[in-house]
Amino acid sequence: MKAIVLFGSPGSGKGTQAKLLTECLGLPHVSTGEMLREGIRQGAGVDAAVAAIMHAGSLVSDQVVEAMVEERLGRPDAAKGFVLDGYPRTLAQARHLAGWLEGRGIREVVIHLAVDYNIIIARLTGRRECPRCGTSYNVAFHPPKVDELCDLDGEKLAIREDDREAVIRQRLDAYEGQTRPVLEYLRTARGRVVEVDASNDPPESVYRKIRQALEN
Ligand code: AP5
Repeated sequence: MKAIVLFGSPGSGKGTQAKLLTECLGLPHVSTGEMLREGIRQGAGVDAAVAAIMHAGSLVSDQVVEAMVEERLGRPDAAKGFVLDGYPRTLAQARHLAGWLEGRGIREVVIHLAVDYNIIIARLTGRRECPRCGTSYNVAFHPPKVDELCDLDGEKLAIREDDREAVIRQRLDAYEGQTRPVLEYLRTARGRVVEVDASNDPPESVYRKIRQALEN
């Protein structure tokens, strides 16, 4: 059973690395942000108040997120393991996850993706996504072949609702105030946090560092 937690600030590359890891390890990618956005798209299970919280760059309530994650981890495809992206993000969520894992005799590995502040801003302001197929681009680091159009289906690329400057600032504040303290808890109470410098290397090199850390 592999329980991998990708931990890091907005824009640190959690989603990018989770995709590489899940493709290679054959484990499901459990992204709370993606689950919440999918809920909004479908209009199912996520109400307007949750959408407003996300669009403002604040954190959704622990109860909503914990219930969603617990349901997801209980599905058959997660029986051999999973890669968590964006969860836990508060001390309450971290304790909730610890209880869930301990109840099943599972120990998680936490990968902390450490990225410089200025690089985070460049990544988030430059991110573009294809609204049809979901492919992610970055105008600075991974641009599409034709400006603002998806390489795969030619669809016009979109900016994520919460990637606007004022909202990015709020997301980073939420990270500093509510999420960064979770790292200390994970280090002291759980004891398995691997530090990965994810600032300057391209995604493939960061991925190699993560694989190396997991093998050790
Ligand atoms: P969520 O979707 O989890 O967003 P986030 O944590 O802000 O993270 P991002 O998706 O912005 O960044 P990432 O670290 O995944 O980086 P990525 O790989 O995309 O959450 C959104 C919202 O949902 C929250 O604000 C909150 O409201 C709510 N929410 C979610 N989980 C919650 C929870 N547990 N509790 C409460 N509320 C919750 O990369 C970013 C960009 O950088 C991309 O353009 C990418 O191409 C580029 N890039 C990545 N790696 C590299 C690299 N090595 N070099 C160059 N460019 C790179």
